Amino acid sequence: MQKIIVLDFGAQYGQLIARRVRDLHVYSEIMPCDATAAEIAEAQPSAIILSGGPASVYAQDAPRVDPGIFELGLPVLGFCYGQQIMATALGGSVGHTEKGEYGPAPLTRIGESRLLAGTPEEQTVWMSHRDAVRAAPEGFTATSATDTCPVASMEDTERNFYATQFHPEVRHTPYGNDMLSNFLFDICGLEPSWTMEGLVDSLVSDIREQVGRDRVILALSGGVDSSVVAALCSRAIGKQLTCVFVNHGLLRKGEPEQVEKVFTRQFDVDFVHVHAEERYARLLADVTDPEQKRRIIGTQFWKEFFAVAQDLADEGRPVKFLAQGTIYPDIIESGARKTGGKASTIKSHHNLIPFPEGVHFDLIEPLDHFFKDEVRALGTALDLPDSIVHRQPFPGPGLAIRIIGAVSPEKLEILKNADAIVREELDAYNARLFEETGERNSEHSCWQYFAVLPDIRSVGVMGDERTYARPVILRAVESSDAMTADWAKLPYDVLARISSRIVAEVPGVNRVAYDITSKPPATIEWE
Ligand code: XMP
Repeated sequence: MQKIIVLDFGAQYGQLIARRVRDLHVYSEIMPCDATAAEIAEAQPSAIILSGGPASVYAQDAPRVDPGIFELGLPVLGFCYGQQIMATALGGSVGHTEKGEYGPAPLTRIGESRLLAGTPEEQTVWMSHRDAVRAAPEGFTATSATDTCPVASMEDTERNFYATQFHPEVRHTPYGNDMLSNFLFDICGLEPSWTMEGLVDSLVSDIREQVGRDRVILALSGGVDSSVVAALCSRAIGKQLTCVFVNHGLLRKGEPEQVEKVFTRQFDVDFVHVHAEERYARLLADVTDPEQKRRIIGTQFWKEFFAVAQDLADEGRPVKFLAQGTIYPDIIESGARKTGGKASTIKSHHNLIPFPEGVHFDLIEPLDHFFKDEVRALGTALDLPDSIVHRQPFPGPGLAIRIIGAVSPEKLEILKNADAIVREELDAYNARLFEETGERNSEHSCWQYFAVLPDIRSVGVMGDERTYARPVILRAVESSDAMTADWAKLPYDVLARISSRIVAEVPGVNRVAYDITSKPPATIEWE
């Protein structure tokens, strides 16, 4: 398979480049910058890209590159720090610029260039650097410059080495994608032939090779990440996979049934539905503190999960691997990967799971290179239903943190029914927007929406009778990453329908309020 290896000189940089290459239908993955030339050669790439990074090439602990990579006979492309490291390794010189260059910069092309071919003589590029190449190594010519940077890009067409000081991978370099296309298709002679189906095949064969005849266990939540891993493992190893679905009774209406249906009828795995509803109900009966709810739910979850692993071992089917739906942004958020590399990731994730004494699993994390929308595309390629692939985010502690105060069966019943109406109406609203705009998360579509049950009652009147019943709060937000959010500007008719349906169809509710607070200062969830 044609493959580009991106050597990652700093978190955030490498993955974005790999992503842009995949968007052009060439498979790409990252390797840590300290990979040796021999390790890289073993991966059989078609070319190498050196990413940017936050260090100065002159710093004591600056990441280095194995100079042997320039002897592999492969095309090499470097961006920013990648250009500087290429220049230093091949005999050019790098120095400090007076004030650095940050943000958009006007660039002027110089002479012919294979990398910049077809892009304007004058254009804007995105810069972020203090150091810069002063003199290109022998064999290279400078192909563009900015006010601060005499060698904004350089190339040696004999040896097929290319580099830019600017960042073609970011959207703020409008012709960056053309440059990447020039490299992949004109310079490396690759074909844009890689597809999601191709990715499924290669992930499946990697899993098969890693697992052999051993047994794998997976905590299946019904969310997109764990479901995609389950579907991949199912295709790779079938019933060697045990999917453990811990039902804590705090999922949304209809969800446990749907997960069970997909993973028993559509995928051929060993599916264990752990009915832990009553145990959770007892544990949560008097708990009102949100963080304590979270702790109890999380701790019990792993107890239930490890009990299944133990049962399998007792039956003579010991588990060697734990499969997880870790995706690339999870790794960035946990700060596990500073300069690329898997070892550090495995450690940090092990730390997150409270393994009982003496329990050890090897990890399988097939999605750890990918962004959420790529994982969704994989899910579609694996024939997972849209309801799973495009499921909105749902917190691990489930409805327990949407019931203010103690959780009781009566409150859970009310919340599940009210929430089902909210989802039905807003799913339909989002579907209408999708039809109109062709975008799933268009400007006004709701990103996350649900009902919250506060711990109060209020007076109402229904028919001729006075009621003293519960209100339900509607929460619907627009967001792209949950870090910030704004309340959704829903049309009045949609709000009116949700309100009248909840009051009419959910016994015990006589009022609906809409939360019109952004995040910050509020959070998306109420607890
Ligand atoms: P907040 O409420 O902090 O939520 O604005 C941001 C996003 O995170 C989800 N969330 C959680 N997810 N366990 C989870 O797995 C949790 O304890 C938890 N708390 C909040 C929330 O639904 C939103 O998408």
